Amino acid sequence: MKPVEINKGVYSIRINHFNRKFFDSLIPLPDGTSYNAYLVKGSTYTALIDTADPEKKEVFLDYLSKVEKIDYIVSHHAEQDHSGLIPEVLARYPKAIVLTNAKCKELLISHLHIGEEKIRVINDHDKLDLGGKTLEFIFTPWVHWPETFSTYLIEDRILFPCDFFGSHMATDELIADSQVIYEPMKRYYAEIMMPFRNNIKTNLEKLKKYEIDLICPSHGPIHKDVKFAIKCYSEWALAEPKNKVLLLYVSMHGSTFVLVNRLISRLQEHGIEIEKLNLEDADIGRVAMAMVDAATIVLATPTVLAGPHPKAIYAAYLASLLRPKTKFLAVLYSYGWGGKTVEFLSNVLSCLKAQIVGQVGVKGLPTESDLKLIDELATSISEKHQTLLNTQAVLK
Ligand code: FEO
Repeated sequence: MKPVEINKGVYSIRINHFNRKFFDSLIPLPDGTSYNAYLVKGSTYTALIDTADPEKKEVFLDYLSKVEKIDYIVSHHAEQDHSGLIPEVLARYPKAIVLTNAKCKELLISHLHIGEEKIRVINDHDKLDLGGKTLEFIFTPWVHWPETFSTYLIEDRILFPCDFFGSHMATDELIADSQVIYEPMKRYYAEIMMPFRNNIKTNLEKLKKYEIDLICPSHGPIHKDVKFAIKCYSEWALAEPKNKVLLLYVSMHGSTFVLVNRLISRLQEHGIEIEKLNLEDADIGRVAMAMVDAATIVLATPTVLAGPHPKAIYAAYLASLLRPKTKFLAVLYSYGWGGKTVEFLSNVLSCLKAQIVGQVGVKGLPTESDLKLIDELATSISEKHQTLLNTQAVLK
């Protein structure tokens, strides 16, 4: 294996992990993933940009067997899928110095026990001349850890943003096809970046002044269509939510499902886009993606013992962790004899800061009067969406 030249003196070291099923033992990886490092060779110095997951140590070191010298290791992010092999690189290239910011230094020392003397701290907008190749370090924090930063290769107009703009996708295609990459990139955004929308906004603003021809992330293929990648992130992070309801449901004996179907038909009459996902077997990456732009999330659940179905709790907790820009919430529930389903879900969802538009609970199979309550809920949701759309129109 040898690094692939992507521009003169700039090389990609992409370690594909086609059969990895989960990231963080949590996130399903339908397309696998890759850990991308890059090499920048100047006339004087060579810099390695990030490393790879220790699980792929042999492959990574095999790539490096063709690399004569490494003077600097730029470590953008202390999470081990990018930093985990720094100790191995230092062992192979003992003169190499790790370049990182103060926060990342602290994390590298605690997570990987890298010697303090091996690390040189860089500051925002510091530049390093490798000999005809100048690296500028740009702090882009909280995408998605506090220490994250990016590197801009000035002469080649290449941005190395680490996880930012990444996608969990193993592929031998060097350059992303916009049609193909859209979903993996959105999935990655939803699962990893969505809670940090405000930081993304600040970071996108900061990157505006740079002329970028290539974005080389640390997962997935390279973006040559830079405008497309930035437009996607801008829409997902900054645009107002759409006239869309995400219906997350699970049903045990069919009562909840009757409520769900009635709500869908009424919302359709109001011209609202609906995405429904059955939590019984939903891929949580798909749930996360569906949350990106829905103005309303409706959780529908039966009562198990005295509370919501565990899969509904899981979805509610996921929403509270990922903090989508959802404005409104509603709960549909059925029960046999009682319980505290709404109280439980409201607590879990409280940090979303979305308005609860309504709740409909039924004991056993819904009656006609229960279904009328669903119709009223659909009307309330539609009115809320209309107000939101009107506000957006005024602000444009
Ligand atoms: Fe790909 Fe946050 O590590």
